[in-house]
Amino acid sequence: MSNRVQPKLIIHGGAGSSLKGKGGVDAVRQSLYQIVREVYALLLTGAVAKEAVVKGCQLLEDAPRFNAGTGSVLQSDGQIRMSASLMDGVAQRFSGVINASRLKNPIDLALFLQNSPDRVLSDQGAAYLLRELAIPTYDPLTDIRLQEWIQEREGNFSKEMAGVVAEKELVEAGEPGRGTIGVVALDSQGHLAVGTSTGGKGFERIGRVSDSAMPAGNYATPQAGISCTGIGEDIIDECLAARIVVRVTDGLSLYQALERSFAEAIRNQRDFGAIGLDCTGAIGWGKTSEVLLAAYHNGTEIGDTLELANGMVVGGC
Ligand code: GLY
Repeated sequence: MSNRVQPKLIIHGGAGSSLKGKGGVDAVRQSLYQIVREVYALLLTGAVAKEAVVKGCQLLEDAPRFNAGTGSVLQSDGQIRMSASLMDGVAQRFSGVINASRLKNPIDLALFLQNSPDRVLSDQGAAYLLRELAIPTYDPLTDIRLQEWIQEREGNFSKEMAGVVAEKELVEAGEPGRGTIGVVALDSQGHLAVGTSTGGKGFERIGRVSDSAMPAGNYATPQAGISCTGIGEDIIDECLAARIVVRVTDGLSLYQALERSFAEAIRNQRDFGAIGLDCTGAIGWGKTSEVLLAAYHNGTEIGDTLELANGMVVGGC
């Protein structure tokens, strides 16, 4: 197979308040780099962008450190409800599940729904689909997330959200954060895909819907793909992923589209981050939150955004 395009990849494990100390940063970097290596190797074998995105989301969902799949945060009633979506940039087709329970990889349902006439299912629909596909039930609860919820219940749920990553020190310090995972891939045919998955904010009202299974949080066209993380309500209010992607589709560079969108976000006092790629292979990111836990492969080397300056930062390569 002749590779027409150098594949590119960027992934994230959430955005939020800073991690506790160097140990936390190193551990997150190690997890992200391992997944970037594995997914980039898949792209080099000729895997299509959608396949690479699903693989990356599965690996991030399976890593208990991140708030998606195993390690998802608990909602106010102590239940885990997960949301995930997948968008194929070439087909310009979105699919997803909202508040799905008792499964290992919500992104698998989003993948199945890519070829269904009904492409976004909520809790009960997702449960029926799990049964129909004979997907085994799975409990994504981890001890550290349970401990975080018990601590919050003792404080009568005074925090608005759970920790960005499941870090013992963060839980003990009562540090707030937000978490999600996301993957954007450009394959050797120049095709883009994007996937995003989350356990939500944590401690939220039953039935609250995340941005992660909306085009506000996960969107792609043939020209660009964006995955968002941070406070879902802020992401929805800016319609962030679609806003950035449409700006690229209308002719701005990825960097210009991020710069304009994050300037608006800072004016509107939003708290979130976004990662993305365009079809020329440009890699980009932006954040208004303290940290953005992203890592990328630019075809030559792996890099990350773990130690960006505080405040708004837009970057790329
Ligand atoms: N961005 C994830 C959420 O707010 O649910």
